[in-house]
Amino acid sequence: MLNLNKFARRLPFALMLALVSLASTAEERRLTMDWRFMAGEVKGAERPDFDDGAWRQVAVPHDFSILDKADGSPPFDPATVGGRDSGYIPGGTGWYRRHLQLSAAEAARVVRLNFEAVYMDSDIWLNGEPVGQHRYGYTAFTLDLTGKVKAGDNVIVVRARHVDSSSRWYAGSGLIRPVTVELLDPLHIDPQSVAVSTRAANGQRADLDVRTTLANRQAKPQQVEMVTAVTTVDGSETVARVSKRYVVPARGQVDAGQALVVDKPRLWGPSAPHLYLLRQELRVNGVVTDVRQTRFGIRTLEMDAKNGLRINGEKLLLRGGNIHHDNYMLGGAGLPDADARKVALMKAAGYNAIRNAHNPASQATLNAADELGMLVINEAFDAWRNSKTGADYARFFADNWQKDLDSLVISGRNHPSVLFWSIGNEIPEQGTPEGAKTARMLVQRVRQLDASRPVTQAVSIDSPTIASAYGEVDAAGYNYMANLFERDHQQYPARVMYSGESLSRYAFYYWRPAETLPWVIGDFVWTAFDYLGEAGIGWMTTTQDWKTWGPYPWHLAYCGEIDATGRKRPAAYYRQVLWKTGIDPITAFVEQPAGTRDFPHYDFPEGDPHNDWTLEDVHPNWSWAGQEGKPLNVAVYSEFPEVELFLNDKSFGRQAVGLGTEYKARFTVPYAPGRLLAVGYRDGRPAGQWELRTAGQPAAFKATTDRSQLKANGEDLAYVTVELADSNGVPIYARGGDRKVKVSVSGAGVLGGAGNGDPVDASSLQSGERKTFHGRMVAAVRAGASPGAIVVEVAVEGLPTQRLRLDVVAR
Ligand code: GAL
Repeated sequence: MLNLNKFARRLPFALMLALVSLASTAEERRLTMDWRFMAGEVKGAERPDFDDGAWRQVAVPHDFSILDKADGSPPFDPATVGGRDSGYIPGGTGWYRRHLQLSAAEAARVVRLNFEAVYMDSDIWLNGEPVGQHRYGYTAFTLDLTGKVKAGDNVIVVRARHVDSSSRWYAGSGLIRPVTVELLDPLHIDPQSVAVSTRAANGQRADLDVRTTLANRQAKPQQVEMVTAVTTVDGSETVARVSKRYVVPARGQVDAGQALVVDKPRLWGPSAPHLYLLRQELRVNGVVTDVRQTRFGIRTLEMDAKNGLRINGEKLLLRGGNIHHDNYMLGGAGLPDADARKVALMKAAGYNAIRNAHNPASQATLNAADELGMLVINEAFDAWRNSKTGADYARFFADNWQKDLDSLVISGRNHPSVLFWSIGNEIPEQGTPEGAKTARMLVQRVRQLDASRPVTQAVSIDSPTIASAYGEVDAAGYNYMANLFERDHQQYPARVMYSGESLSRYAFYYWRPAETLPWVIGDFVWTAFDYLGEAGIGWMTTTQDWKTWGPYPWHLAYCGEIDATGRKRPAAYYRQVLWKTGIDPITAFVEQPAGTRDFPHYDFPEGDPHNDWTLEDVHPNWSWAGQEGKPLNVAVYSEFPEVELFLNDKSFGRQAVGLGTEYKARFTVPYAPGRLLAVGYRDGRPAGQWELRTAGQPAAFKATTDRSQLKANGEDLAYVTVELADSNGVPIYARGGDRKVKVSVSGAGVLGGAGNGDPVDASSLQSGERKTFHGRMVAAVRAGASPGAIVVEVAVEGLPTQRLRLDVVAR
């Protein structure tokens, strides 16, 4: 704590005043460390004097479902009620306890306890007294603890009850997103009131509207001055500033609307995600009582059926992917770096839009999207009044919809990345009069809080009544119904449409309408990133009975174009070509011959190696021992108009590639070890190539980290990738080359989890022991709260152990 008296004697008066004034402005502390956790029902755990000495010490974000069981066995349970929906990982009840020390001055302030998400159905106690409850597992909520906290030690207790079958995908359990405490002056800016929007903008000038509520907890009315400035994102330069006076009534509030003009603004868009800072200062007689900083972007958004979607006047097609919130080896824990990594990997693979299925995105996801230029459809619900699974949100909708919808919009509206608000996904009552009524109610509420963004809903049924669902929204999300775009346009020529969900297998077919029909603005594949739960959907044949897919040990969906560890699968490479991104403009993959498939217990009809949610069963592999001389099918995806395939320098001919071939060429090549080379030609000249080489036995491995420095905040992550290679450095891909790996972490951090992306490897995600899958595995290393060195030891069976050093530095 800064001792002002000691410094005061040496400081000029004006600076001293500034220090004194600022000392009482808003302060937000992240409650990351020092939580204690216990699974199951515990009697009396809410009592402040309860002895939690035997409880596990944990850091937040935290998911208690992904942990190994008490006996050290993996978290999976083939008999769990959630079944394949939850990836055979049960929920349950969990308790968290944490002490919060406050000085007398701090305890006298306005105190707000913020939870970004607790999955789900939580009750909270402070010093033994119930202080709140929250039902939905994905919305942020705040408890006002003003006057309830005391000087000295306070005890916060949270109980989360994740009833199995509450979700159609793996949700995780507990304090899955950050928890913070805010201390404010009695006269403050309501933290949730700030809304900055662009009324108009071009390269010359931007007109911004800022809405804010000023709150006064004192018994006397107060005259205040509110100074609002727009600065560069690092705060170094002010580009606009206004100041206005208000009277805030005693124990009341006042709405403060301000308008600002920014000259020559740098606009936010997917290719140039420029950000600004809104800095608001509340002053009473010149003394600052609150400062609030909100990062935002200046951009315009227009949309109609004639010209499609325009951001800052420029037409844009949504190259979209759906994602769920889980972070695989970390479970549902929304560690900011893990959420941000998914956004970054998608961006690097050419996607420009995310549909956050089917719940509000984390702040970390939105922050990363803001920084990287990724658009987001931020979705509220997967169910309204009628449930999809036994114990889902439908239990709570009637009582909670408004506060949950408010939370979505309030926590998301200052993020320029948020493109649309989605009120729901494939809602059971879609297309009924009741569904239309609920949709209208939700849309109205969204528009009250944010009129600057379109509202959408994803619908999955084709019926005459469906017009009622789309009639309420600005953009119509068609899930798996691209066949209706032209027909519906005849009847509803003003309707803006897009594929809210689509199949990798038919990527070409779903993308064409976006390229050719002005009223179709894009496509969101199901899914961009693989996820836990809906086990095995990516390995389900078109002919398979829905009841038989995804039995344990399946636990990943396996439909992600990027696998659960972050590795691009062939579908992601194909999409890059389809979207003409220029990233990997030519690639070649090989179909697994019958009898060698990864998951043979699934009985594909012969001649149909495909399934709905996977592009095709092809692999970046030219190591097929035992197939010598046998014909192998090779798929080449190419942006170049002509491709030629060579095996060991022998040509298998040239083929024209383009729209007519869906940017694919197919070759049949008798297998022989060596080098398979695909060459792309433009104007008859070689313009790019891709090679696959036969690997020998694993003789080495590479252990690499995506960063070597982390902050001592208990949250930062480094992802360590382990990749096997033969003695010539050729990557190992064939399953026969996979090896057991053990990753151990010591020093100033811990192992967050380790995974390989293998959808049927139901071993521990926490122990660090994991076999490679197609030659690779990934571990997430989590910083502790103190600076120091972390040593990551990687032991691969049969190979010399390697060590990596990471540095954890002071925050
Ligand atoms: C859709 C649904 C998604 C997912 C997908 C694939 O109908 O909206 O959440 O379940 O099917 O299984």
